[in-house]
Amino acid sequence: MTFAEIKELDQQYVAHTYGRFDFALKCGSGAECEDYDGKKYIDFSTGIGVNAFGFADPDWVKAVSEQAAKFAHISNLYYTEPGVKAAKMICEKSGMKKVFFGNSGAEANEGMIKAARKYAQTKYGKERYEIITLINSFHGRTITTVAATGQDSMHVNFDPFTPGFVYAKANDFEDVLSKVSDKTAGIMMEMIQGEGGVIPLDKEFVEKVAALCKEKDILLMVDEVQTGNGRTGYYYAYQAFGIEPDIVSTAKGLGGGLPIGAVMFGEKTENTFVPGDHGSTFGMNPVCCAGACAVLQKLDEALLADVKKKSAVIFEKAAKFENVASVTGMGLMIGIELKSGTSKAVAIKCLEKGLIVLTAHEKVRLLPPLNITEDQLEKGLAILEEAIKEVAE
Ligand SMILES: Cc1ncc(COP(=O)(O)O)c(C=O)c1O
Repeated sequence: MTFAEIKELDQQYVAHTYGRFDFALKCGSGAECEDYDGKKYIDFSTGIGVNAFGFADPDWVKAVSEQAAKFAHISNLYYTEPGVKAAKMICEKSGMKKVFFGNSGAEANEGMIKAARKYAQTKYGKERYEIITLINSFHGRTITTVAATGQDSMHVNFDPFTPGFVYAKANDFEDVLSKVSDKTAGIMMEMIQGEGGVIPLDKEFVEKVAALCKEKDILLMVDEVQTGNGRTGYYYAYQAFGIEPDIVSTAKGLGGGLPIGAVMFGEKTENTFVPGDHGSTFGMNPVCCAGACAVLQKLDEALLADVKKKSAVIFEKAAKFENVASVTGMGLMIGIELKSGTSKAVAIKCLEKGLIVLTAHEKVRLLPPLNITEDQLEKGLAILEEAIKEVAE
């Protein structure tokens, strides 16, 4: 097919839920890819943090295709090898005790919310169901996770929502404290608000919330959908904050390109769910879990150190670009605030010049592959610098 044919069919048959850029991917390898006209690009987006090791990583392709050739699916009524291997590796890297597999970030958060409510209600009674989330957070697109999301703009025209969510200001411990009551079952946070603009939480705030949760037996719930699986230079971002969450959700980079989400349970919650409480037909899908194993196998201390090194290069260079006001984030999850011009205009310009970048509100957002080479990084940053300069007003 040609790009024009693809665009035409998309217009006619695909629901218009995305404002698409003028681009279709034909194929890729690592941090490089090609469109239908043979134009080459460097990818700083990884499909929004999904392709942890870039396009068509050979180890990942081998693991996924070998599993697909054996069997793609069997019900969760039976045991499977890729699922148990992925769960073991997640527990070893996170320090959590057990894992439930679903298919996406929103679904992982749904599982996390259900588990928190069950833990609190069975221990303290039916009235303990509220979950405090942070203003400017993002937790997904289902009715319940939209309710958990602390952004009013996401709430227009979709009510009534699942009740029981209370919003507090990020990095304002007194505000969190003022929202805590006998009804509070959990406090749910992203360590770095990703969609909200790549804004890391303050360590002191996170530590205080963790201590409060411990004192009151409120569950500390961490959404690592975007920050997890090596993205921030840690296996999971909460490890940088020195806390031990009671429940964690993750997705995106975990599958390396296939749909998978996971809820991780700590000591308090590992036995909260019993047979019949929760499930998913496609959850723990063997092909997706084989992909996850290939990703998790590559996550080690050397890789994390390399992510931190590349992160430092981006921070140092981007902070000096003309028209850049600030650089935020951690590891290879980076937000660039502009002095003038829009992040959307930068993304369009970058695409024209052969670089794929993302936006998060008014920030340019970078989520490059964890294994991007120094050369690819340099080339991409040079394009980005030019684009940011050109949008200045
Ligand atoms: C922190 C966070 N939570 C949840 C989600 C929802 O994940 P999914 O789109 O896989 O449902 C996202 C997606 O961007 C996210 O960044």
